[in-house]
Amino acid sequence: MPVTPAFEASLFEKRREQVLRRMREFSPAGAVAVFPAAPVAMRNNDVEHPYRADSDLFFLSGFEEPEAVAVLSTQGEKAFTLFVRPRDKEREIWTGRRAGVEGAVKNFGADQAFEISKLEDELPRLLASAPALLYRVGGADAEFDARIARMLRNLRTRARAGMDAPRRIEDPGQIVHEMRLRKEPRELDAIRKAVELTRRGHLAAMKAGRPGAYEYELQSLLEREFRGGGGRGWGYYPIVASGENATVLHYSDNSMQVREGDLVLIDAGAEVDLYTADVTRTFPANGRFSAPQRACYELVLSAADQCIERTRPGETIDGLHERAVRVLTEGMVKLGLLKGEVDALIKDNAYRKYYMHRTSHWLGLDVHDVGSYRTAEGKPRPLEAGMLFTIEPGLYIAEDDEGAPAEMRGIGIRIEDDILVTERGHEVLTRAIPRTIKDVEAACVTS
Ligand code: GLY
Ligand code: MN
Ligand code: MN
Repeated sequence: MPVTPAFEASLFEKRREQVLRRMREFSPAGAVAVFPAAPVAMRNNDVEHPYRADSDLFFLSGFEEPEAVAVLSTQGEKAFTLFVRPRDKEREIWTGRRAGVEGAVKNFGADQAFEISKLEDELPRLLASAPALLYRVGGADAEFDARIARMLRNLRTRARAGMDAPRRIEDPGQIVHEMRLRKEPRELDAIRKAVELTRRGHLAAMKAGRPGAYEYELQSLLEREFRGGGGRGWGYYPIVASGENATVLHYSDNSMQVREGDLVLIDAGAEVDLYTADVTRTFPANGRFSAPQRACYELVLSAADQCIERTRPGETIDGLHERAVRVLTEGMVKLGLLKGEVDALIKDNAYRKYYMHRTSHWLGLDVHDVGSYRTAEGKPRPLEAGMLFTIEPGLYIAEDDEGAPAEMRGIGIRIEDDILVTERGHEVLTRAIPRTIKDVEAACVTS
């Protein structure tokens, strides 16, 4: 676990200042915001999943150890309090170095730090000082919700002794997630590096993805690039789906042998400094798309390109999805997958038989990143420069779909790119990962 932040400490300090400013506007009489670390997840018996910090806590502090809580307060001198695991020579021999209380102040910029065991004494004191609490109830740690609830109850019972509990409790996401939505240069550096490792991984898989190869071999090539290139690994578990496995949206067995004539769909992205890429490519195992595969691929590519082309400030994710649905539905009729009027097929959701997911999501520290998709009035949110999101249309024709032309059954295709909204339009960060038929076929050739 790093005992210094991945980025320069001043970056996190600036973010905290911005949050504190917004907290003052939000509750001029005072506010306290609480951000707990993600709990350690057990994999089986006494084996833990590799630890991955909570994205909000990381965004505001750079702190990546478990059993930590960050508190921001607009009351008094100490704006930033960190509760952390204490230094412990014996434990550190087993589980690695810790920043400790001293490191929390020295390296992570805390105005004060306490051992996590002091939380029940110190956090209520901080809570009692403010009329508003910003805490995301229903986050990753239900036990922490219960602890906060207990602290509030105890504070209320001590009203006669002059203690008070915050009367307003709201989601700090309305401040922090809005900030996470617009990427800063240092974040974009990390994302560009994640995209580059992702490019290397997808290219290696395209080269090696011949009939006879196993899906897990391709997964291992992806992981080799993601980790070997200096990333943390993957930002979400990779999907390596050959043949009809590609029509299972969340396929994750990655265990089958690739057959002659199969397409291989790979949805995998590297994580760098906790920022993830999210890229899907679909390629022919034998290096050449068959005619029906080509027709389906061209349709998905056209939907993707039309969405990308429209991306600029003011456009909406809903608008792009509608565009993708229209292009795909028109194509489904041409391909003989659907029959009828395009408008009616869209209105009746008939297209969902072959395209059942949304076209886009925000991207950043989380693969499905935070941030509202609606304005305060409930309207689709206009895109702004600095926002990062995916465009990922697909076409999935079940193997046993007797309504589909026989030669198309079992075809699953998705093309997914990461798009940065710029002042003038957009930048496709993942452009260099082969996506046209010509480039994909060229990338599959092994010399
Ligand atoms: N890899 C997850 C997604 O594409 O949304
Ligand atoms: Mn995605
Ligand atoms: Mn994806």
